[in-house]
Amino acid sequence: MLLDTYGRVATDLRVSLTDRCNLRCTYCMPEEGLQWLAKPELLTDDEIVRLVRIAVTELGIEEIRFTGGEPLLRPGLAGIVERCAQLEPRPQMSLTTNGIGLERTAEALRDAGLDRVNVSLDTLRPEVFQRMTRRKRHGDVLRGLAAGRAAGLTPVKVNAVLMPGLNDDEAPDLLAWAVENDYELRFIEQMPLDAQHGWQRDGMVTAGDILESLRTRFTLTPEGSQERGSAPAERWIVDGGPHRVGVIASVTRPFCAACDRTRLTADGQVRTCLFAREESDLRGAMREGATDAELARLWKVAMWGKKAGAGIDDPSFVQPDRPMSAIGG
Ligand SMILES: C[S@@+](CC[C@H](N)C(=O)[O-])C[C@H]1O[C@@H](n2cnc3c(N)ncnc32)[C@H](O)[C@@H]1O
Repeated sequence: MLLDTYGRVATDLRVSLTDRCNLRCTYCMPEEGLQWLAKPELLTDDEIVRLVRIAVTELGIEEIRFTGGEPLLRPGLAGIVERCAQLEPRPQMSLTTNGIGLERTAEALRDAGLDRVNVSLDTLRPEVFQRMTRRKRHGDVLRGLAAGRAAGLTPVKVNAVLMPGLNDDEAPDLLAWAVENDYELRFIEQMPLDAQHGWQRDGMVTAGDILESLRTRFTLTPEGSQERGSAPAERWIVDGGPHRVGVIASVTRPFCAACDRTRLTADGQVRTCLFAREESDLRGAMREGATDAELARLWKVAMWGKKAGAGIDDPSFVQPDRPMSAIGG
């Protein structure tokens, strides 16, 4: 079991499959992109499957989320999913993606054993999408979403980040669209994880702002805390149900006390938190011949060092060295 010194047990593993992305979201990375990891630094498909197997069969991980970068850019994705689906006990598997290419791959991923997708989409306006992502791919994302739903990768969740002066007026429109299309919408507060270090607390759209905006058009009833469990999103029932809307208030209402996550970067480093400043190198140990038992032990030791909270509210907070795309969002 992956236990930390605060009594939390990690059962949810985020696996980053690549640090590369085909979008350039302004809150994530600069226009020119980043210095990508070189291929030898990336875990191979076999190494990923081995570490996932150890996590599931030795360490109590129940849920795997594949992410990146953009995980659909990883050529071996379907094969990795298929091999992880054969593990006993079989983990729940989902994919966090920008949806570009999902139109072509959704059915194959479902057949390989993927259970669900989370697709990121911040705006319904193609011109705003282009300003926010610096790419003309709005239509691809909408088609990817529809393909995910048609393939049964449900509930399809949509992640949206609101940015002042760009799309902060769109919360009610996004919710109306999500309800109509049977997507579960979740707003994510912008976090200090951009490569350019451009995040400013004063400039961000808060959960409070988002809820105020939604309430101009919808009646929102809070879902009980029992339904939330360790989920990062607080959820509200929309207009009496059955649809829900979530807000992940990582900055203004952090949910660290119930955190059940551990992370593996595309280059094989364990991180205990998005905001952790330390990493534990499983790739190095693995390539030096560590046994499964030794790797499991290293993972346990890493989690024992997990901090009580992400510390964004602490005046001494320092942004992690690696940006979100390199950690795995
Ligand atoms: C880093 S991406 C990786 C997976 C995939 N490329 C995607 O777009 O979903 C995961 C999520 O992180 C969000 N994200 C990226 N940078 C962020 C930031 N600084 N604050 C909040 N969310 C961020 C994205 O909008 C996306 O929903």
